[in-house]
Amino acid sequence: MLNKKVAALLNEQINKEFYSAYLYLDFANFYADKGLDGFANWYQIQAQEERDHAMLFYQYLHNNNETVTLEAISKPDVKMDALMDPLKAALAHEEFVTESIHTIYAAAQKVHDYRTMQFLDWFVKEQGEEETNANGLITKMELFGSDPKGLYMLDNELGARVYSAPSLTL
Ligand code: FEO
Repeated sequence: MLNKKVAALLNEQINKEFYSAYLYLDFANFYADKGLDGFANWYQIQAQEERDHAMLFYQYLHNNNETVTLEAISKPDVKMDALMDPLKAALAHEEFVTESIHTIYAAAQKVHDYRTMQFLDWFVKEQGEEETNANGLITKMELFGSDPKGLYMLDNELGARVYSAPSLTL
């Protein structure tokens, strides 16, 4: 059995990851409506990755004989007008998720739950990559987004992203 507080935080993280998936699907919607299928593809894949993250937390709790409680997933609430809006919101959201992972890590560390700390190590690294990607997209949009040809090429680049399953297996 895991420490009660650690288990509760892990359970909450399932919801946060599913919310992330829902949020990114909403971003994909926004770009699809604008005719930017490459951006839409990028966020559809991002949504798939978030679902994978949720399932890793779900499976980890099950593997440790914990009860999983699924809560309601909130409606995505990011206001999107400019093409940059989802990109900036994605960075802010990833920073929020990083904070959340660190909070669980600190709670696990406090009770010497080395197993959970090791499980979370993958997510700590993943969050670093997610923030780098989110930052990189903002920079590219600032550089090329106002030029139609630049935007077209950026959309093509993002359209080439393909889904790959997470490297962490449980
Ligand atoms: Fe599940 Fe984008 O962090």
